[in-house]
Amino acid sequence: MSGPAITPWVVGNWKMNPMRADAKQLVQELKQLLLNQNIEESKCHIGVSPVALELQSIQAQFSDCSRSISMVAQDLSRVAGTGAYTGEISAELLKDSAVECVLVGHSERREVFGDTPAVLNEKIKNALNAGLTVIYCVGESLEQRESGQAEHTVLQQICDIASVVQPEQWNKIIVAYEPIWAIGTGKTASPEDAQAMHAKIREGLSQISPAGQGMAILYGGSVKPENAVELAACPDINGALVGGASLNAESFYKIAQAFANTK
Ligand code: PGA
Repeated sequence: MSGPAITPWVVGNWKMNPMRADAKQLVQELKQLLLNQNIEESKCHIGVSPVALELQSIQAQFSDCSRSISMVAQDLSRVAGTGAYTGEISAELLKDSAVECVLVGHSERREVFGDTPAVLNEKIKNALNAGLTVIYCVGESLEQRESGQAEHTVLQQICDIASVVQPEQWNKIIVAYEPIWAIGTGKTASPEDAQAMHAKIREGLSQISPAGQGMAILYGGSVKPENAVELAACPDINGALVGGASLNAESFYKIAQAFANTK
């Protein structure tokens, strides 16, 4: 069981979705739901992670929202600053556009785009040096789970970043545990299995840094309104990284509400 109270985070990972008109509609619906019944900022941080191209436009569309919504980039460059790096977006450029958070190490980046631990470390270092909050994703494959390697895999992924995070920077790290077999499949880890892994992650983090006890550890993988309350009730699950269900305003709102009300 964790020590200090941790304000949960519910973050919508829109991935390579939606088209502009649908994004506009989604934002409008979410703002309306929050206007009808607000979710207090002190009870739950809410973030959305649109494609990089739309970060500023979505941020502007939320500017008259009844509460703050954090903009989360889906990725950043392994190269810092500015320069001749065609196609890249650095941590400094994100920060300059008032983006405060960034996802690093999502399994789709690791598996489809070849983000190795070394690349992820460069990205994390740049993000932290620019003052961004990092949502660092970890998780095992089905094969690793079935061969009893889940815990080892996930703890290794935590250890992988230990050399680049400075002692005072751990409070800028949020961990998202996303078992790969649960992403976009409709299968969720049972609350018991998820809680057990989250407790292990917290134990691992606490061995690396005193900040570990107070760090938010989010669960991701087919989170929906139907399972959010049970997941939120687990002591070491401090929020959710939501893919598919975040593309529906009502579903996403209900997930945030579940965490705000349960924690
Ligand atoms: P999902 O995706 O909710 O659609 O499973 C979660 C994620 O990949 O962050």
